[in-house]
Amino acid sequence: MLAHINGNFKGKDIVSLRQFDPHSLQKLFTLASEMSSLAKKAKGSNLLHGTITTLLFYEPSSRTFGSFSAAIKRLGGQTVDIINPQVFSSVSKGESFEDTIRVFESYSNALVIRHPEKGAALKAADIAAFVPVINAGDGIGEHPTQALLDLYTIYEKFHHLDNLIGVFAGDMLNGRTVKSLLRGLSHYKGITAYLLSPKALQLAKEDYNDFAASGITLIQIEKEEDIPKNAHFWYWTRVQKERFSSLADYEKVKNKFILSKRLLSAYGNKDLILMHPLPRVGEIETDVDEDKRALYLRSQVRNGMYVRMALLALVLGKIK
Ligand code: NCD
Repeated sequence: MLAHINGNFKGKDIVSLRQFDPHSLQKLFTLASEMSSLAKKAKGSNLLHGTITTLLFYEPSSRTFGSFSAAIKRLGGQTVDIINPQVFSSVSKGESFEDTIRVFESYSNALVIRHPEKGAALKAADIAAFVPVINAGDGIGEHPTQALLDLYTIYEKFHHLDNLIGVFAGDMLNGRTVKSLLRGLSHYKGITAYLLSPKALQLAKEDYNDFAASGITLIQIEKEEDIPKNAHFWYWTRVQKERFSSLADYEKVKNKFILSKRLLSAYGNKDLILMHPLPRVGEIETDVDEDKRALYLRSQVRNGMYVRMALLALVLGKIK
């Protein structure tokens, strides 16, 4: 069972944006903003001194792994880094998932897990009885810390998270960052989400119904001409190649919608922000990067570290 945050993060597993509420998000953002000032000072902090967090990554990751690692170290904590345990550790000898979680739980104060299977983080949370588990991406399920930094980035710009219009482009079916972000936005009123993707990459029916029932107005579009000109943010994503069983199917749907200067001048507005969870693989042209509205290689990335610093401090009970 997943605990709701309700303003108190201490000891809680962070598996889904379902656990959050506006008050808890606000608390996290306030702390993330303090972390950004702290990180800018050369001195750093010892808030997590004496703690060890295991980063258990069953799936490739560079930025999420690096962001967690940097966040922990900036606060004086330490990490045990386990990358690809299915290849390099006892898992390759046939050790069960349960045993692996129990072992690393006993070494650490928190576990951060990324896994190719949807539901694996929840399973790990159920197994680990003594330390909090943080989901760093479970297959096509969720990616809560990415959504937290995305929400913080939108909040930093607009100072509110209700009454927003967002355009989501790319892979709605397999993209976990889209699902976590929509789940986060569903805690606010007046959200309209335009979902731009080929039919084959639209949200699964179950997810669609779930988000619609949560109060978000969902508008599925398949043509760039249907992009609204009054959006607050564009959230571009990569087509998730690794989730396809056939390369030919991937080739058919990849990069149908490319964010270019032309698209931006046709449908953008001056207050719009451009976001992408990264990595990008061609779906945003590089000459868009210089545009002031492009946050994906700027504050969106930095905010990931600040939000993770704040989250770890709260979950490890170092800040109330
Ligand atoms: C995302 C992921 O892993 O889901 N990347 C990330 O964590 N920054 C997005 C992606 O891989 O497309």
